Amino acid sequence: MKDDLIRELNDRFAESTVEEVLQYFLNEYKGRIAFASSLGAEDQVLTHMIREIAPDAKIFTLDTGRMFQETYDLIDRTNARYKMKMEIYFPDYKQVENMVNDKGMNLFYESVENRKLCCHIRKIEPLHRALEGSDIWITGLRKEQSVTRNNNNLLELDENNHGRLKLNPLINWSEDEVWDFINKHKVPYNTLHDQGFPSIGCLPCTRAVQPGEDVRAGRWWWEMPEHKECGLHQK
Ligand code: ADX
Ligand code: SF4
Repeated sequence: MKDDLIRELNDRFAESTVEEVLQYFLNEYKGRIAFASSLGAEDQVLTHMIREIAPDAKIFTLDTGRMFQETYDLIDRTNARYKMKMEIYFPDYKQVENMVNDKGMNLFYESVENRKLCCHIRKIEPLHRALEGSDIWITGLRKEQSVTRNNNNLLELDENNHGRLKLNPLINWSEDEVWDFINKHKVPYNTLHDQGFPSIGCLPCTRAVQPGEDVRAGRWWWEMPEHKECGLHQK
């Protein structure tokens, strides 16, 4: 049933602009749709568009507790620019305490298993709470970002989130299109982007990339490319 709807909507919006897509879904799912922003460049584009189309739509971020100061600064700058208050979700403190007391503060460098546990506690569990009451969520995923995202579509069934719908309006955009939009509309962005960080997550798990390197090469750089998903977008 949902599969048919997804196929139909993907076909219907195959040639549409991002604004047209957002207009439809923000209206159709009013009050039951939420945008997850990591404050990345793509997310800033979407915040700009969403604030113009549906100023009352829910926009939230998952604060893992290990973010860059530049990202926190950007939350403030974004709220000021768009006259909004992004909703902030924190991890469950008991789970974080148990994890770091048991496995150490920097457990993520030791194994993929530890890294996924940390991502689970600091991102996935808070995401489930953030999405309560929503039937569909919006993300800033793009196909070009990595090998793990080549097969993502505009609209998808999110098996990991109780079969909610997941909308990726920028799925077919290139990095240049993202930056053209940011420059044209003077959208606030993370100052780390000017220091060689194309993709920004938690501070201990993100580093700058060299010219010509993959945009996500600086995320969990010690792991193989096919492991590099925190679980928010695991298939
Ligand atoms: S991640 O899964 O590897 O961390 P990435 O940083 O590329 O993801 O972001 C992809 C999309 O996932 C973002 O555009 C955003 O929709 C969502 N996302 C990632 N991290 C967060 C976060 N901390 N808070 C809210 N949404 C996030
Ligand atoms: Fe933990 Fe690193 Fe995942 Fe952040 S990106 S939640 S610090 S493992």
